Amino acid sequence: MLNEQWLINANPRGRALSSEDFKRTQTETAALAEGQVLVRVDLLSFDPSQKGQMENIGYAAATEQGQVMRATGIGEVIESTDDKMPVGTQVLGSLGWQQYAVMNASAVEIVPDDGLQSAYLGPLGGTGLTAYFGLFRVGCPVPGDTVLVSGAAGATGSVVGQLAKLSGARVVGIAGGPQKCDWLVHELGFDAAIDYKNESVKAAIRAACPGGVNVFFDNVGGSILNDALACIALNARIVICGGISRYEQAVLPAGPANYFNLVFQRASMSGFLVTDYAAEFAAAKSRLAQWIKNGDLVFKEDVQSGFDQIPATLKRVFDGDNFGKQLLRM
Ligand SMILES: NC(=O)c1ccc[n+]([C@@H]2O[C@H](COP(=O)([O-])OP(=O)(O)OC[C@H]3O[C@@H](n4cnc5c(N)ncnc54)[C@H](OP(=O)(O)O)[C@@H]3O)[C@@H](O)[C@H]2O)c1
Repeated sequence: MLNEQWLINANPRGRALSSEDFKRTQTETAALAEGQVLVRVDLLSFDPSQKGQMENIGYAAATEQGQVMRATGIGEVIESTDDKMPVGTQVLGSLGWQQYAVMNASAVEIVPDDGLQSAYLGPLGGTGLTAYFGLFRVGCPVPGDTVLVSGAAGATGSVVGQLAKLSGARVVGIAGGPQKCDWLVHELGFDAAIDYKNESVKAAIRAACPGGVNVFFDNVGGSILNDALACIALNARIVICGGISRYEQAVLPAGPANYFNLVFQRASMSGFLVTDYAAEFAAAKSRLAQWIKNGDLVFKEDVQSGFDQIPATLKRVFDGDNFGKQLLRM
């Protein structure tokens, strides 16, 4: 079968992504060995960590220029040599930026037929699980706490805020632009939202969190982290989930000047990786799915379309153009 693919063509470390970083090619799909499936890729997930994987920083397996760009996706089995995954099965896995993927059946999971299909790339997938474990295991909010979230209108941040509300906290989100801030307060039930593009962040945190911040869930880093550190309460927990403000920078900023407030407030700042909790993913997914079904957890998807648009769609998460979980339908 003729297969169109996008390959990694450069290392974008220290700069923004460009169209030259990817190269389009065509190849024939390989014949299936025993225990394999041929998957038609239908829906792709876009995650900031994909740029880090091209740069070979962090925890993921090394990548090389000339290989198919890695990506999690959902697709349909159209050929199979595995009895447990017949033709027609919907599967999720690391399918990559290509029209068809030859996969070992053991390397993909069956997507439940529960009407929540695309959610398995968002609130029931990597971003939802990141929110769940980062908040509950590292942030540990208790009723009455004030939880501050950066990147709050994004796939991870929007789930963090809603889970924090479910745990009885007061929740303040930081996001870019009035439309995203309105959505946080009026549709997700955040208590307040700060538009970091149009407000003085430190003054706005002080105003929205008069008793100080008990839990700060940070997706952004840089000056937003520094401003939040100035506003922490006694025994605060700062959860370092991501630092998207630095992912395109050639020269990294000096450490946050306000870190010494950790001493005065006897606070802790911890990083985490969602993969550390893999053994508990199934249990977390069933709790998240129940909240979605009850209407307690709402999510938004930003679905682009077309194979041609794949590289430009990854850039959207770095430019803040995505409003909700970034996906692309082939
Ligand atoms: N630790 C882990 O295991 C783990 C796992 C998954 C993801 N993460 C991290 O979680 C974070 C969110 O990922 P996601 O997939 O949910 O993406 P996302 O939040 O849906 O999209 C990224 C958002 O980041 C914001 N942003 C981009 N550049 C920014 C800047 N310079 N300053 C402030 N905000 C900026 C934009 O929102 P605005 O329009 O509001 O600017 C954009 O919509 C990332 O930092 C990612 O690396 C960590």
